[in-house]
Amino acid sequence: MSMHPPEPFRIKMVESIHLINKQDREQALQRAGYNIFGLKSDEVFIDLLTDSGTGAMSQDQWAAMMIGDESYAGARSFHWLSSTMEEIFGFRHFVPTHQGRAAENILCAVILQKGQYVPSNMHFDTTEGNIRARGGRPTNLIIKEAFDTTSPHPFKGNMDLKKLEDFINQIGPENIPLGMITITNNAGGGQPVSMENLKAVSEIYQSFGIPFFIDACRFAENTYFIKLREPGYGEKTTLEIAREIFSLADGATMSAKKDAIVNIGGFLALNDTEMFEQICNELILREGFITYGGLAGRDLNAIAVGLREGLQEDYLAYRLGQTEYLVSELKKNHVPVIEPAGGHAVYIDAGKMLPHIPKSEFPGQALSVEMYREGGIRSVELGSVAFAFADPDTGEMKYPEMELVRLALPRRTYTQSHLDYVVKVIKAIVVNKDSLPGYRILKAPKLMRHFSARFEPIVKEL
Ligand SMILES: Cc1ncc(COP(=O)(O)O)c(C=O)c1O
Repeated sequence: MSMHPPEPFRIKMVESIHLINKQDREQALQRAGYNIFGLKSDEVFIDLLTDSGTGAMSQDQWAAMMIGDESYAGARSFHWLSSTMEEIFGFRHFVPTHQGRAAENILCAVILQKGQYVPSNMHFDTTEGNIRARGGRPTNLIIKEAFDTTSPHPFKGNMDLKKLEDFINQIGPENIPLGMITITNNAGGGQPVSMENLKAVSEIYQSFGIPFFIDACRFAENTYFIKLREPGYGEKTTLEIAREIFSLADGATMSAKKDAIVNIGGFLALNDTEMFEQICNELILREGFITYGGLAGRDLNAIAVGLREGLQEDYLAYRLGQTEYLVSELKKNHVPVIEPAGGHAVYIDAGKMLPHIPKSEFPGQALSVEMYREGGIRSVELGSVAFAFADPDTGEMKYPEMELVRLALPRRTYTQSHLDYVVKVIKAIVVNKDSLPGYRILKAPKLMRHFSARFEPIVKEL
């Protein structure tokens, strides 16, 4: 029996997928330098690389795209999106951007100076990259339960409030041009942040005069976790919860490719009018005019519809049910996973699953490569390939706390039997896990290396 609510949609258009044979998969891996980002999508059977931009749009979104207004300035599409933004987020200003990292780049361009710090529960890699690219120092101050993969804490995305206050006192608020929080926390298991924590974080930032920005990529999933788990919110709608969340902040960045269920788009929203004017200048220089920001009018329409659909409660119950189902099936098969299940993805603790592979040989990469080799499944490493970095002061390598492999679920895309296939493939890997090799990097750029690094397996003499 299915453990999660059945899909609250029926399928009107399909896209064929095929499993290529094992020999072709091996060749594809070699050609890609053992980096799953280098695979062609036709070489992949079940693509769990990301939930970003990979969801299935609804008939209402496609219908909205047909009536996109492509006027360069002042398009109807912009005003439609604007009214949805007002209803859900309630910030005074916003600009569309082509995706989330463009919003992050523009925010950093107008607010951040070299050497300054930006605290968060956990920055995602693009946010981290954008802060570092301008000489800033991203700092993660999440609660310690986030690193205990089996702790049942209901809000493992929460900021550690004491650490945050101590950090601000130590660094000095004048060296912190903005503070952030990521909801849900993608880099730490897609775990939610509670309203109580958001309120406290907002108060702390406010008391030090530090502008508070929310990375809102998965705000809708976060609202449903709050509804399910936080006392006092069970009777509130997800829209009411969202409005309450954003009333606590000075602004937000968002990749609409997540909870707005579109294939491209994002925004930067805020209350400060002076900063907004600077943002408009940056936007015009890099993205496009302020009423389209690097997107087509039709894209803005799809976001306007998708933002509302992303908050629908039957959809969210099914969606969070999918990850819960995968987590419970993997647990049954003794695969170490982050618990409780996150919103958009399931995270396997590859460090725990493959203890014979040290961090410097990338256990997450090893597992991710093996999932493709065994069953044509594409996942992504979120461990030392993605997050290890050389300390700017000492040059010493700093490794992240966890070596994760993320199986991200595209929205409204895969069915129950696809999930069961994924479980079957992982079960087969478990049998031979002790013989999997580690990997060494042959070539990699300095920033965001997981997208393009090339690897080779480390063959050990017996
Ligand atoms: C939490 C978080 N922030 C920011 C981003 C960046 O968004 P984009 O890929 O649209 O640039 C992502 C994308 O995965 C994310 O998960």
